[in-house]
This record gives sequence, C-alpha cells and structure tokens, in this order.
Amino acid sequence: IHNVIFKSSDYASVIIAQEIAGLIKEKQDKQEFCVLGLATGSSPIKVYEELVRMHKEEGLSFANVVTFNLDEYYPMDKNNVQSYHYFMNQHLFDHIDILPENIHIPNGTIPQDNLHQYCIDYELKINSFGGLDFQLLGIGRTGHIGFNEPGSHYNSVTRSISLDHLTRSDAAPAFFGIDNVPKRAITMGIGTIKKANRIVIMAWGHKKAEIVKQTIEGPVSPNIPATYLQHHSNTTFVLDQEASEELT
Ligand code: F6R
Repeated sequence: IHNVIFKSSDYASVIIAQEIAGLIKEKQDKQEFCVLGLATGSSPIKVYEELVRMHKEEGLSFANVVTFNLDEYYPMDKNNVQSYHYFMNQHLFDHIDILPENIHIPNGTIPQDNLHQYCIDYELKINSFGGLDFQLLGIGRTGHIGFNEPGSHYNSVTRSISLDHLTRSDAAPAFFGIDNVPKRAITMGIGTIKKANRIVIMAWGHKKAEIVKQTIEGPVSPNIPATYLQHHSNTTFVLDQEASEELT
C-alpha cells in the first residue's frame, strides 16, 4: 500500500474525485465503459459531492459509467432512509446522468432462499463488464472493507455475512439505537475487491487512527481484512492528518 496524507479530508476528496473523473474521460475517449466500485458511509460523501459539482459545472458525463456498490444491509428495503440505495441516490445518482440500468447495488429484499444464487449472479455481473476499473473504499473500525468483517477469507466473493457488534454500534445513531441495526448484510468479497485494477481507500479523523496503523503497519491477517490490501499492487491509502497520527 502506498499512503498519502492530506491536511484536510475535503481537499483529499477533491483529489480522489479528480482521479475518478480522469478515468471516466479516458474511457470515454476509447468509447469504453468505466466500471466503478462504490462505497457508502461518511467517508466518500465529499468525493460524490465533487463529482456532482463536476457534472453540473464542468459537464462531466456519466453516460459511460457502470457502478457496483460494495454492500447493503440485509434485510433492507430500498426506500428505507437507512438503506445504501437511498444513500447513493441522495448523494450521487439523483444528480448525474448515469443510466439507471448501469447502477448495481446489492438488493436487501431478496428472499433468504434465493440469496446465495443472487450473490453468485452479482459477482458474475461484475465479471461480465470485465471487472472493476476502480474501487473506492472506506474502512470500518473492525478493519472491514465493504462488510468483510474479521475472519473473511482473502478469496471471498459476494455473499451474505453477519455484522460485527462494533460495526452495528457505529451504525446505531443512524438507526436510532443498535436494536434497529440489521444483523446481516450482503457484501462483495475480498477477492472481488482485490481484482479491481485500482483501489483507493480513505480514512478520516481520530477514530480511524488505530485501525489505519494496524492496516498499514501490521501483519496481513484475516483479523483485519483491510490488511489484505497490502498484497494489492495498485492501492493508495488516502488519509487526513488525524487518521495518520498513529503511524510510525
Ligand atoms: C460502506 C462500506 C463500509 C464503510 C466503513 C466506513 O459501503 O463498505 O466498509 O466504508 O464502514 O464507514 P464510514 O465511512 O461511515 O466511517
């Protein structure tokens, strides 16, 4: 992993958005799809804000963009304000010219009996576009990427998982109490993520400093799934000053 530290997460987010926009335009010139793996949560909000600004003010088009979101709670209705569907529409998709059929987000309403096949199909769909050109990631305090909690295998694919207690407690405020946070989720696997040509992982603020240190300086281990990125040759960890403060 290669690390870059910025004074502010706002500025770092603009730089990340510029990289994504550059890739989209490069693919447009070649008349190719640009396949983006996207994250939700607080970390990418400013990146999406900047992409929306570029669309509105600079004419950046998303007509050739195909997206795959990392994860969704399970069970979870798409119209629920806590859903990742709602989040993506609110922060990005409602404001750009992406084609609705090019948007993919794991569906939290799939019946339990069909879930296994649904996950296999999600993985196949990513592969049918030739894999991810770019994957944007946040990191959870358990060391999860996507919702690949500790114990996840480095070759794991899209599947349903149980959320860790710490992850659910971090999500509790948004759900008005931990009892309302779903116990499960659908997530792309570590193997899915690692096949991306380019990965940018972001961490902002003091709360992430400890897990950032373990991810960058610790041994590769299933206990901290983000450490698997140490074996990915084109990953950049983008940090603000606060998130980097424990690094030696
Ligand atoms: C979200 C996701 C999660 C988050 C992580 C950090 O789609 O996959 O791994 O990136 O939980 O969340 P924030 O950014 O809210 O700190």
